Amino acid sequence: MPKMLNLMVACAENRVMGRGTRLPWRIPEDLKFFHNETAGKTIILGRICYQTWPRAREDGRRLIVITSNPGLAREGVQVARSVPEALAIAETMPGEIYVNGGERIFEEILALDRPMRLHLTLVHAEVPGDRYFPEWRHLKWRETSRRESSDANFRFTFFTLEREASDPRILT
Ligand SMILES: NC(=O)c1ccc[n+]([C@@H]2O[C@H](COP(=O)([O-])OP(=O)(O)OC[C@H]3O[C@@H](n4cnc5c(N)ncnc54)[C@H](OP(=O)(O)O)[C@@H]3O)[C@@H](O)[C@H]2O)c1
Repeated sequence: MPKMLNLMVACAENRVMGRGTRLPWRIPEDLKFFHNETAGKTIILGRICYQTWPRAREDGRRLIVITSNPGLAREGVQVARSVPEALAIAETMPGEIYVNGGERIFEEILALDRPMRLHLTLVHAEVPGDRYFPEWRHLKWRETSRRESSDANFRFTFFTLEREASDPRILT
């Protein structure tokens, strides 16, 4: 039985989630949520996400970095060359699997026909940027929670959305 996949993303109404190697905003409440939610988890992430997240190896996170550079492996960090290889490693590790992007990784994961949970912070703005979260709204999600919030710069909503596999034999 495959493990539940959890996708963690904050994106704007125009699906922008990044600019270059950086986030296109600074939203402390969302950063806090992200750090709390991912603490102690098994996390799949791309090489740029890993290299630009200074606290990635803290708080008991077990990282699987997708990269062509095997030299990035170290204590608490395994490397995989592809999404399928990363998922195979993650299945052998404790707990549910968290996926932190970037763009291609989210695309490949969303295309999988298996149960998944999307932790989406939707930032209610059109934001300039060049990294996009793939279109998710056409997929069949069930909303399990929603919380609205704001700060001096943005209004945003924390959604939890869940999706089953289309084949009922693929169980959660
Ligand atoms: N707002 C959010 O929630 C959120 C979440 C995630 C990312 N972001 C933003 O997105 C940007 C970073 O993401 P990104 O998409 O540019 O980069 P990324 O996925 O973190 O890293 C790209 C690198 O990872 C490896 N890689 C990624 N996907 C792969 C695949 N499917 N198969 C094989 N290798 C793969 C390659 O590494 P090698 O070159 O080493 O081979 C590639 O050059 C930043 O702007 C970040 O702030 C935002």
